[in-house]
Amino acid sequence: MRHIARDIIRKIVPNSVREYITPITRVSEYYFSYLFGSGRANPPNTVVLEVTYICNCHCKMCPLYVNEENVKDHLDMKDEELPADKWKSIIDELSDFGVRNLIFTGGEPFMRKDLLDILDHAKSRGLYVSIITNGSLVTQEVAARLVSLKVDNVSVSLDGPKEIHNKIRQKDIFDSAMQGVDFLLEEKKRKKSELPDLQFSCVISTMNQTSLSELIKIGHEKQIPVYYHRITFTTYSMEQMMDREYSREMVKAEDQNLPANLVNVDPDKLESELNKIKETAKRYPVFYSIFLGSHKEIVKAFYKSDFSFINKCFYPWNNSRINPYGIVYPCSINAHMGDLNKGRFDSIWNGVNYVNFRRRLKKKGLFSICSKCCVLDKDRSVWNILPRI
Ligand SMILES: C[S@@+](CC[C@H](N)C(=O)[O-])C[C@H]1O[C@@H](n2cnc3c(N)ncnc32)[C@H](O)[C@@H]1O
Ligand code: SF4
Ligand code: SF4
Repeated sequence: MRHIARDIIRKIVPNSVREYITPITRVSEYYFSYLFGSGRANPPNTVVLEVTYICNCHCKMCPLYVNEENVKDHLDMKDEELPADKWKSIIDELSDFGVRNLIFTGGEPFMRKDLLDILDHAKSRGLYVSIITNGSLVTQEVAARLVSLKVDNVSVSLDGPKEIHNKIRQKDIFDSAMQGVDFLLEEKKRKKSELPDLQFSCVISTMNQTSLSELIKIGHEKQIPVYYHRITFTTYSMEQMMDREYSREMVKAEDQNLPANLVNVDPDKLESELNKIKETAKRYPVFYSIFLGSHKEIVKAFYKSDFSFINKCFYPWNNSRINPYGIVYPCSINAHMGDLNKGRFDSIWNGVNYVNFRRRLKKKGLFSICSKCCVLDKDRSVWNILPRI
């Protein structure tokens, strides 16, 4: 019943409106427990499942690869990822607990040969299933299964036109990613299916700051919306301050201390590219979303280390993440909340680690390493007006 209502809303409410309304409608799910729960929370709406850290790319901005020397350590990479049966039983636990949305990501989720089997199980539980992928492993067969499983959303990462995209991804995958998208479009047409919803997702950096508008043309050609995101990064000084706020034994920040020549966009060039996006979209109409406007905003977003659009975070009250080895953690702060090999999700969700983490976050509003987190985008502006008390 719930997903029928959701399908109806999806059909009648345009993306542009949903993007602003969804965060507002969700407030009731977490705000009262935020205020009065003393660190405890209602079951999360959304859980991100990182089903593998293995990947066929090597993207310049990705936390998996920013620091290859200690990647194993900071992401707790072990040899054995959870088998499909374990993921299925975790999905059952999550669904029984009241979780409604699952986001499958990685690494590259399609590197797992059993991904479709896991997705099938998630859909059989009536969950809203999204996948974030680089698209390059979506063959015709995979596309056909995704359509017949009625996976709800597939977000394909696209960082620029062919040459730029391949340079950022450090692999020639543009053509295979576009092929994957075309297979999905063909299968949807063949089966007369509205699902999965498709979107392109682009991370803004110095490497694509003058070619972002090209994506509008691609989005228009395929009639797929384009979402531009700020790059998530930390700096050495942010990490040092975080050390004082939270002990290193408890928290290992994902290493997002990215090279300055990737993050330090040229505000003039980016501003003029943002204008170009607007102009291009007039000639090649397609829905797009970008939460950067003025020159001033660009400077603050990329250069002012303590500036954030949103002044407090509610994410760990309504979302959670699970890594490929079954470790639960709250967000891009890699703090261990518990191990699903040893306990159930519901007990970890309101266990001592999560409760302490939420209490500390509530007390501070944001930690020092939060300011450039992509969660703090303007579509969550409602968070600014909710008092912390
Ligand atoms: C880590 S990837 C995993 C899924 C898949 N491999 C892909 O690339 O789509 C998930 C998303 O995070 C984006 N991403 C990677 N590094 C990022 C960063 N530093 N800031 C913001 N987004 C980033 C990727 O472009 C992708 O859209
Ligand atoms: S494809 Fe995704 S997981 Fe792989 S390196 Fe790129 S952003 Fe990271
Ligand atoms: S803003 Fe901070 S606490 Fe919130 S999701 Fe991002 S890193 Fe986590």
